[in-house]
Amino acid sequence: MNEAIIKIIVRSKDRFMFCKELIEEFDLKKVAELGVYRGDFAKYLLENTSKIDRYIMIDPWRNLSDWNKPANENNNIFEEFYQETLQKTNFAKDKREILRGKTTEVIDKIEDESLDFLYIDGDHTLKGITIDLINLWPKMKNNGFIVGDDFSSTIWQHNQNYEPTMVFPFAVYFAEAVNAKIYGLPHSQFLLQKSQSGFEFIDTTNGEYSNLELRSQFSNTTKSSFKTTIKNNIPFASKIYSALKK
Ligand SMILES: C[S@@+](CC[C@H](N)C(=O)[O-])C[C@H]1O[C@@H](n2cnc3c(N)ncnc32)[C@H](O)[C@@H]1O
Repeated sequence: MNEAIIKIIVRSKDRFMFCKELIEEFDLKKVAELGVYRGDFAKYLLENTSKIDRYIMIDPWRNLSDWNKPANENNNIFEEFYQETLQKTNFAKDKREILRGKTTEVIDKIEDESLDFLYIDGDHTLKGITIDLINLWPKMKNNGFIVGDDFSSTIWQHNQNYEPTMVFPFAVYFAEAVNAKIYGLPHSQFLLQKSQSGFEFIDTTNGEYSNLELRSQFSNTTKSSFKTTIKNNIPFASKIYSALKK
């Protein structure tokens, strides 16, 4: 366990402060944010630390037909959010680089082994976090840091009309695959450092990530959707449905 990281966790009251403190402590200069939305996180970091000399913003700022999450707004709203982001970060426009597109559309514009720090906050479905970690990992410098949002201890972070959030556990499996250490942080964040120091999952919360059973999270859902399917689609299954309800 890295003592400097633990000290930052202890003194940080939220994810914004944690990332700012990490950037200052480890002198992280080239930064990227994947999933920028209205630019609040970017504005905070650019305002609160002078360490950053390049800030890459990755976001399509458009409606995505294959992204079933509550933040998927219509194109007009996304255009407003894009303009809002520009306006909020114009004071740092010399440091800013905008890559408007999905990860897979813009990834080639980022040089390999160039990033000191990446904040992943885009598509948190299994598809999204898989694409993002696999595409961005080669872009990180050795010893660079990835922090990610929505490391939710339940995959049912949003209601069941949406795709499950799979940052947890996928980021942990990814860390094991690349032989790196991953920290479960307060405020539903994770931290992954690119170094071959050996895989370890370090839960720095009050046991939020201990003893999680994905099989029960999935099987509960299977059970309830199974009930709904029976109820809605099989005309004379009311007896079976009533029995299941007991
Ligand atoms: C929760 S918001 C980001 C919030 C922001 N990081 C903050 O802290 O203020 C998620 C963003 O991810 C973007 N996004 C969704 N899918 C994406 C993808 N495949 N590639 C890049 N960005 C994506 C959306 O357009 C949206 O703006």
